[in-house]
Amino acid sequence: MATQRPPANPRPGPEAWSSGSTPDGRAIISFHHVDLEYEDQKALADVTFSIANGEFVCLTGPSGAGKSSILRLVAMDAFPTKGQVIVRGMPATRMNRGRVPQLRREIGFVFQDFRLLEDRSVEQNVAFAQLVVGVPHLQILQNVMRVLTQVGLYDKRHRLPRQLSGGEQQRVAIARAMVNSPKILLADEPTGNLDPVTAQEIIDLLFRVNDSGTCVLFSTHDHEIVKTFGQRVLVVDGGRLLSDERRRVPVDRSASLVDHMYRAPAEAAPTAQRPARREPAHA
Ligand SMILES: Nc1ncnc2c1ncn2[C@@H]1O[C@H](COP(=O)(O)OP(=O)(O)OP(=O)(O)O)[C@@H](O)[C@H]1O
Ligand SMILES: [Mg+2]
Repeated sequence: MATQRPPANPRPGPEAWSSGSTPDGRAIISFHHVDLEYEDQKALADVTFSIANGEFVCLTGPSGAGKSSILRLVAMDAFPTKGQVIVRGMPATRMNRGRVPQLRREIGFVFQDFRLLEDRSVEQNVAFAQLVVGVPHLQILQNVMRVLTQVGLYDKRHRLPRQLSGGEQQRVAIARAMVNSPKILLADEPTGNLDPVTAQEIIDLLFRVNDSGTCVLFSTHDHEIVKTFGQRVLVVDGGRLLSDERRRVPVDRSASLVDHMYRAPAEAAPTAQRPARREPAHA
């Protein structure tokens, strides 16, 4: 039976704002008429949007649309050719390059191809993210234990990446991105190549990260995820932002993405995918 409940994350209250604009004071990411060119290839054209602190946003569009390019700009792994990108109050300009490492400490990045260190164990992979930012040893041990428990991989902490399934490797990548308690988590196709059940687990995990206050921006070209996603969806195509939809789908705890996909069409009511509220993923 469907169970209604209030939205799990009421923080941003984005419904009150008009599409594509958030009050400046609350924006953690803002793009203002952004173009991005790679050598002679134009990847983004006139992209404008902003994301408030604590929001959970899905970025979608076909292959080559510009999704990864948007994530790269947020991580300041690329700089706009025209227009302005501001992340946590810092404008993305080449002059600010020296400050990028500091900003990156506040951003977790989950890559589609995981990019785990193949010769290191699960816990060493996660610990590495803390070592590079100079966290004391004892604290690293505690933090690694905490995030591996949160992603359900504490028991497999001594395994090498190749001894894990694809979904488990993705959870290690998310644990590594979470361990520094980022303000922003960027996930590029985190459900790519995963079966629907595992994909849903990954989305649920991202919801839990968001429940702790982290702003989450993830990309996907999975239509089923987009169809059932009850939060904000940005659609890009050909480098342009086609739509910015703030959905307000009633929450149905009884239905998951998997239910939605495997139930007969007549039974499958539109659902939001936010699971029941859980304990914060990290303090
Ligand atoms: N390093 C690069 N050099 C030149 N062109 C690039 C580079 N990276 C991306 N592009 C081009 O920019 C455009 C946008 O690419 P982007 O990777 O952002 O798309 P995407 O939406 O993430 O696609 P996918 O779903 O396949 O990952 C594409 O036309 C792509 O060929
Ligand atoms: Mg991409």
